[in-house]
Amino acid sequence: MKKIIIAICFIFFLGQVQAQKVSINRAKGKELIQEKVETLLSQMTLLEKIGQMNQYNGFWNVTGPNPTEGDAAKKYKHLKSGQVGSMLNVRGVAEVKRVQKIAVEETRLGIPLIIGFDVIHGYKTISPIPLAEAASWDMDAIKKSAEVAASEAGASGINWTFAPMVDISRDARWGRVMEGAGEDAYLGSKIAYARVKGFQGEDLSANNTIAACAKHFAGYGFAESGKDYNTVDIGMATLQNIVFPPFKAAIKADVKTFMNSFNELNGIPATGNAFLQRKILKEEWGFDGFIVSDWGSINEMISHGYAKNKKQASKIAANAGSDMDMESYAYINHLERLVNDGKVDVTIIDDAVKRILTVKYELGLFDDPYLYCDEKREKEVIGSKKNQATVLDMAKKSIVLLKNEKQLLPLQKKGLNIAVIGDLANDKNSPLGSWRIAGEDNTAISVLEGLKSFKGNKITYEKGVTLAKGKTDFTLETNINKKNTSGIKEAVALASKNDIVIMVLGENGFQSGEGRSRASLDLPGLQQELLEAVYKVNKNVVLVLMNGRPLTINWANDNVPVILETWHLGTQSGNAIAEVLYGDYNPSGKLPMTFPKSVGQIPIYYNFKSTGRPKIPAPNMVFWSHYIDESNEPLYEFGYGLSYTSFKYEDLKLSESAFAKGEEIKVSFTLTNTGKYEGKEVVQLYIQDKFASRTRPIKELKGFKMVSLKPGESKEVTFSINEEMLQFYSANEKWEAEEGEFNVFLGGSSKTVLESNFKLVD
Ligand code: NOJ
Repeated sequence: MKKIIIAICFIFFLGQVQAQKVSINRAKGKELIQEKVETLLSQMTLLEKIGQMNQYNGFWNVTGPNPTEGDAAKKYKHLKSGQVGSMLNVRGVAEVKRVQKIAVEETRLGIPLIIGFDVIHGYKTISPIPLAEAASWDMDAIKKSAEVAASEAGASGINWTFAPMVDISRDARWGRVMEGAGEDAYLGSKIAYARVKGFQGEDLSANNTIAACAKHFAGYGFAESGKDYNTVDIGMATLQNIVFPPFKAAIKADVKTFMNSFNELNGIPATGNAFLQRKILKEEWGFDGFIVSDWGSINEMISHGYAKNKKQASKIAANAGSDMDMESYAYINHLERLVNDGKVDVTIIDDAVKRILTVKYELGLFDDPYLYCDEKREKEVIGSKKNQATVLDMAKKSIVLLKNEKQLLPLQKKGLNIAVIGDLANDKNSPLGSWRIAGEDNTAISVLEGLKSFKGNKITYEKGVTLAKGKTDFTLETNINKKNTSGIKEAVALASKNDIVIMVLGENGFQSGEGRSRASLDLPGLQQELLEAVYKVNKNVVLVLMNGRPLTINWANDNVPVILETWHLGTQSGNAIAEVLYGDYNPSGKLPMTFPKSVGQIPIYYNFKSTGRPKIPAPNMVFWSHYIDESNEPLYEFGYGLSYTSFKYEDLKLSESAFAKGEEIKVSFTLTNTGKYEGKEVVQLYIQDKFASRTRPIKELKGFKMVSLKPGESKEVTFSINEEMLQFYSANEKWEAEEGEFNVFLGGSSKTVLESNFKLVD
């Protein structure tokens, strides 16, 4: 026994020594890189330095409006003269090699380019959209999904992704909610951390890891009226408590880059915002990576009414801390003059360039500029079986069961006649979602294909109505079918002859994403009409929702027995959905964003403030905080999601009723699987600070755990509560926990079922 203990101690000691060695080596590595950066910087002309701060789009794809100066000839000329530090939207080993070769072999100093790309939810093997992944609440799966994306992008010449988008949003009208982790700062922070770690790995210089980019700094998700690029006007408490935490988590994960943002924040465009970029990010948080502007956002400060011209915009952006100019052609045309005229200090340029060069060194680009350019690896890695399996796993975990009455799900595997209805059921493109520039069109497994791979039942398909006709491009709304009802008759006829109808309805893959804000959140086009017509003849409807944001599906919720939220699930979409429908996978997803009953309730979120008039004081009273024509309740709350089994929460216990700063208490309860199936439950811990120097929300998520249970099985689940979890941005304008009374809540959604209280004391 003694020997075993000694051996364990020795192993532990070795582990410690090893960890110490790694951190010493890292520190040394950093020092060495800094020396190299300084040496290189000392050899650079001013124009070459500014070149490093200049990022051009490639010659093939665009992910923003084409700038007038964006002609290929100019770009080539600048590339050759060392006036380009980075390119985006160049992809594939052959293309990347072409531009890298020019940078490395034809410029005076041969500084390699950093190649950026929007690898948002997968590269070619497409993962679920980030909002869907967030619904898994499974950090390990999310990290693995990012690893797949990084490995494929890295095999295709890319070494920098413009992800994760960590913008919190409470507005489902905003098209980009599909790209984020939803409405909650705590869940969003965990996901930001997992995704950065997934992209960057433990060794950034490995060829299967790429630099990540936390974006958009800051406030973009709070665009007024949910309209993309719109004005953001929020107070310091919201900025600190809700917007900032996921960005801080990204820094904790050692994210290498940040992107600023299109929006203005309280009157100052984020791109020219020194408070955000210099004071908060670089000074207060000590971020030592670099900040890239958003596409043309330096120029956009002119339209914002903040800069008179490009020259002034360049001055403002550089001084405010934007290190790299994406596609504004502002720095390359104006910074040299601005420095020479004393309007921008050369130390600002040097600082930006050092940051950019450091990341290039860390990526290993100076050791081997073609590190990410291996044709053989490109063929092997992209679309591999392993990657497909990872995104399938992620897709299953992202599905949320919203309603399951009549025990319609899981479906029996034999003897059923099933009608499958809906344009989206047979769509191999929409499940790929909105951000999949490198993905090949029509490569997703459709729901129909997924269902047909289970052979025991008879499956018959009718489209019903066309959702969107023509090209699924930026003007999609005009392509939505609002007139042609011709297929409804056939769909109704089919539905009336079958045991069960699976209706796949929702949004085309391009109806969410950048620039795709919607004023209505109803099922687009004629789908509602189709749903009601089918339901009239067959009540056994399983509604499979495929969408990029919360929708207002009140009628479906009131009538249809089963609703399964499947988002846009990526390449393996149909397989994942079929496995869940047939019960091979028991759904465990929980909503990362509130589903409103009507658009008028937006912004709607679970962690709201009480107000002075939170409850109706007496029947028929009107003077309280409510609508006269809509309830205050959401359709489905944050954190909500069912399983094929059921769970019981009981026996809440607190280890102490009070604790002091520096100490902690334990809260525990018993979770029992009371249903017939083995299942996983995401148990959620919420806390309310009852009285504080600034009012606090009615509850806030502060912890969650995934618990697996067999039928009839019980487990005790324990959370620790410490001072850090009680911190917020107080009236003292700092993050601190205030002594006082707290409520603690537990449950399977933000509508919690267990409650107790404790005190934080002196
Ligand atoms: C604009 C988007 O806002 C940003 O997120 C993206 O990374 C860039 N375009 C580049 O495509």
